Amino acid sequence: MKKLLVTGGAGFIGANFVYYLLDNRPDVSIVCVDSLTYAGNMSTLARAMEDSRFTFYRQDIRDRAGIDAIFEAEKPDAVVNFAAETHVDRSIEDPEIFLKTNVLGVQVLMDACRAHGGIRFHQVSTDEVYGDLPLDRPDLLFTESTPLHASSPYSASKAGADLLALAYHRTYGLPVTVSRCSNNYGPYQFPEKLIPLMIANALADKSLPVYGQGLNVRDWLYVEDHCKAIDLILEKGRIGEVYNIGGHNEMRNIDIVKLICQALDKPESLITYVTDRKGHDLRYAIDPAKIHAQLGWTPETAFADGIKKTIRWYLDNRPWWEQIVSGEYKTYYERMYANR
Ligand code: NAD
Ligand code: DAU
Repeated sequence: MKKLLVTGGAGFIGANFVYYLLDNRPDVSIVCVDSLTYAGNMSTLARAMEDSRFTFYRQDIRDRAGIDAIFEAEKPDAVVNFAAETHVDRSIEDPEIFLKTNVLGVQVLMDACRAHGGIRFHQVSTDEVYGDLPLDRPDLLFTESTPLHASSPYSASKAGADLLALAYHRTYGLPVTVSRCSNNYGPYQFPEKLIPLMIANALADKSLPVYGQGLNVRDWLYVEDHCKAIDLILEKGRIGEVYNIGGHNEMRNIDIVKLICQALDKPESLITYVTDRKGHDLRYAIDPAKIHAQLGWTPETAFADGIKKTIRWYLDNRPWWEQIVSGEYKTYYERMYANR
């Protein structure tokens, strides 16, 4: 049985990855490490907690002694790092925790990998490290050799971690890979992010705050397709390399919001155009040719199906997100949107 240490498993993509492994990889057991920030949620992991192949530690990745003790006790074969501060708007408000978790936390994890015999380490990164692309050049896509050009404190912190991971490979020979994925959507995404925020607000007949004119473009990927790509990279990825993950599915924000209104039978008059995000990236678009050619990965979920499944999930799992939006999230929402 192969033992994977998964950090950030109580968050959106980490939890989907945990379930992907439990449901598809009987040869794998999982040690999950998560400090349960505002974005971590134990109710997401309820089914995993009943599985004998799953162990959970509430632990901050910045805490060297705590992380070392877990590595000593569990002796994982590989580490996949999802743990991060992930919301761009929060990073604009207060960058510090982003640097601490997203850069120094990664250093702590990789030092533990070195200290315990050179454990395989995979860093889950983002297309945002490349900065943005112009709206009027659809021919331009991010490849793995596009220069890093981060726009927000969040993306700068992720770029820092990518460089550090590749430096640990070059300097210490740590077996590292990095993946850079485009925007994910699917079950268990925290309601501060575009798609679940618009679903939750529309269901409550609240206004739908679109930044600027809603013309910014994101390249959407169903979360399970991302999980499959990471599993493949862990199995077959070339050490020391970076893999872009994306599904050639570019959409303007306004079109996503209108589609959600339509699917929920809500009027477009709920849409409110609000002050734009500072430094707002115009367009992301991933070229996934390398992971396709080297590892045979290709996205399997068409956006039309994925968004239907996602909206259905939020309708069927109201207690999961209603509990979030009725808690401290309210204060965040007020602060972020009240006078926008
Ligand atoms: P999320 O915000 O939903 O979850 C993050 C998880 O990390 C939470 O469970 C949180 O408790 C945990 N965490 C945060 N700080 C921690 C710390 N110091 N120690 C231990 N645990 C900590 O994030 P997500 O959207 O699932 O993103 C997961 C990873 O994927 C991140 O690294 C992110 O940068 C990357 N990514 C996300 C997307 C996306 O569209 N969501 C796309 C590409 C890459
Ligand atoms: O590209 C990958 C990245 O995608 C990940 O690395 C990040 O962790 C993840 O948060 C996401 O970043 P974005 O900034 O693209 O996601 P967000 O959901 O915050 O916003 C998507 C787009 O929608 C963006 O152009 C801003 C806009 N938006 C967002 C919110 C929350 C709005 O117009 N209104 C909103 O209320």
